Amino acid sequence: MSRAVTNLQIDSTRLWDSIHETAKFGATPKGGVRRLTLSQEDKQVRDWFRKACEGAGLEVHVDTLGSMFAVRKGRDMSKLPVGLGSHLDTQPTGGKFDGILGTLGALEVIRTLNDAGIETDAPLCIVNWTNEEGSRFAPAMMASAAYVGDFTVDDILSRKDAEGTTVGAALDGIGYRGETKVGTQKFSGFVELHIEQGPILEAENKTIGVVDHGQGVFWYDGKVTGFESHAGSTPMPLRRDALLALSEFALTLEQIAIKLGPNAVATIGEAVIANPSRNVIPGEIAFTIDCRSANADTLDALDASLRAAAGEISKKRRVEIAIDQVWRKPPTHFDPKLVDAVERAAGTLGYAHRRITSGAGHDACNLNTIMPAAMVFVPCKDGISHNELEDATQSDCAAGTNVLLHTVLSLAGVAS
Ligand code: GLV
Ligand code: MN
Ligand code: MN
Repeated sequence: MSRAVTNLQIDSTRLWDSIHETAKFGATPKGGVRRLTLSQEDKQVRDWFRKACEGAGLEVHVDTLGSMFAVRKGRDMSKLPVGLGSHLDTQPTGGKFDGILGTLGALEVIRTLNDAGIETDAPLCIVNWTNEEGSRFAPAMMASAAYVGDFTVDDILSRKDAEGTTVGAALDGIGYRGETKVGTQKFSGFVELHIEQGPILEAENKTIGVVDHGQGVFWYDGKVTGFESHAGSTPMPLRRDALLALSEFALTLEQIAIKLGPNAVATIGEAVIANPSRNVIPGEIAFTIDCRSANADTLDALDASLRAAAGEISKKRRVEIAIDQVWRKPPTHFDPKLVDAVERAAGTLGYAHRRITSGAGHDACNLNTIMPAAMVFVPCKDGISHNELEDATQSDCAAGTNVLLHTVLSLAGVAS
């Protein structure tokens, strides 16, 4: 590679500006973003993104699950494109960086190549994956999961949100049910830039995380069925209180995860009392469980232990605890050659870096099941994510995008 290519750097200010420009779509008063997948705010950011990609000379197409693909031609169009990108949807009280950095960082890579007049040998393709977050429709990362064949497209289209709206109806509602058949836009590999969403890089003063593993995830829908009765006249020993049963289960789950730790976490993120009333003993609660570990055996042990705990607590408290596993994502071992390519780029650029396991799920984890994939992490403030306070520095975001740029260049090759 020529010196001009080796020394190429992205435009940090332009990247920062686009992150903040798009943060207005779904901006919350506390400085975060609420941009649930396939909402009107998601449509706004998608329209912005399509226009920006077209402005950078890319050809945009959309698949039948709404994932957006923006292709930059290469010298050799017989080669598969190198994929790069992430997602633009957020949690209900999300931040400005989760997913967005990787998608807009990919756009910045293309803009940088355009400005420098660099043609790559293989084409490049930015992706904005639909519904990475999984908070409106389960599971998370559903479009990339369908892309790799873990779910059928019809199954995903029929998934419903809490209001009963299907993915299909939501796609039509914002005009993003595209025509590309899911899975037909192929890649030679995929690289995703993301904030770490944890505290390790910041604590160790590292600028770049070279992600070599991703935690596996088990999701469950649960329901506790007790018996509604009068809060004043029902003696304590006679109650079949669904909330108390769930409380005992939640505390037991905490102990299970601690015992199986440090490489195990478990969370009850949603719990909804049916027909709540301050003077009615809760008779029914719907809840969710999220369990994660980078170790498959630990995940199985979590699964067995939480089911045993549910059995014991339901007997003791004379309630029913139903637990239905709705998603099972095994741990990810990212492609060693691509991980090396990320590490080389970080080293050549002179950034302090370390290998790291991703605690969060990512579309790259799905893609890695059918193609080489890798990820680049940058620190986020106090390790906070899935929170409106989520923050990252301009220089770290730029560093991660430079690593993305040079990783992608090493994979796509530079046309001579
Ligand atoms: C996605 O954000 C996840 O890790 O749940
Ligand atoms: Mn994300
Ligand atoms: Mn997220």
